[in-house]
Amino acid sequence: MFSKVILTEDGSSSVFSSIFNASYHSMHGSIQETDHVFIDSGLKYFHNQDEISIFEMGFGTGLNMLRTYMYWETQKINVRYTGLEAYPLSTNQVNELNYLAVLEREDLKDMFSKSHSVGKYSDKNDHGYSFSFKLENTKIENYELPHREYDLIYHDGFGPSVQSFLWEEELLQRFYCSLKAQGILVSYCAKGSFKRALKNVGFMVESIPGPIGKREMTRAIKTIV
Ligand SMILES: C[S@@+](CC[C@H](N)C(=O)[O-])C[C@H]1O[C@@H](n2cnc3c(N)ncnc32)[C@H](O)[C@@H]1O
Repeated sequence: MFSKVILTEDGSSSVFSSIFNASYHSMHGSIQETDHVFIDSGLKYFHNQDEISIFEMGFGTGLNMLRTYMYWETQKINVRYTGLEAYPLSTNQVNELNYLAVLEREDLKDMFSKSHSVGKYSDKNDHGYSFSFKLENTKIENYELPHREYDLIYHDGFGPSVQSFLWEEELLQRFYCSLKAQGILVSYCAKGSFKRALKNVGFMVESIPGPIGKREMTRAIKTIV
């Protein structure tokens, strides 16, 4: 087994990968980090839209998708979500994750399990808006990112000291091309070289307050129309 389920300080699970010698989330808390970086600083940025297309680099535990789904449940917005994951967790590991218990949403068990095992899920909320999810199990190096498809990219790969190529111009240029005009990329990473690389490929870069334990995080906007 190359990874094991662990517990973080807010009581929610994460995973430690022995391949990368790194944890999937901040040890200050998986749920608090996800909510701050991806939901509050990314997804809610689009509160005026009634449709959003999201790409996640590094689906992992599926927590970003779960929190996106829980936000969507109460909103008037259609969500299309593509998660990319090269090293999927085993079914036993997915069952060990405690998110549904911590969030008191055991009713989402079927959705959460299917997103991992079948890699496809779709649903309608009480307002009649749709959520459609697909999981691509391949490496980002081999994945053909569509042109001008996404409004929002959750960049949640392992950090620059672990996977430097994820934070360099070549991949960031591909992300830039896959975003629509006014699309954004959010990440917990606030490293100077990452922000410089984002600017070099054309993004306008904002350094905004980070989650507990991190002074800053990054939001990059494709400002062209
Ligand atoms: C920091 S973890 C984030 C996980 C996830 N967002 C979550 O909330 O659990 C990084 C994820 O990227 C995946 N990954 C690492 N290298 C990858 C690659 N080259 N292509 C696609 N996924 C990769 C890892 O397996 C891991 O699940």
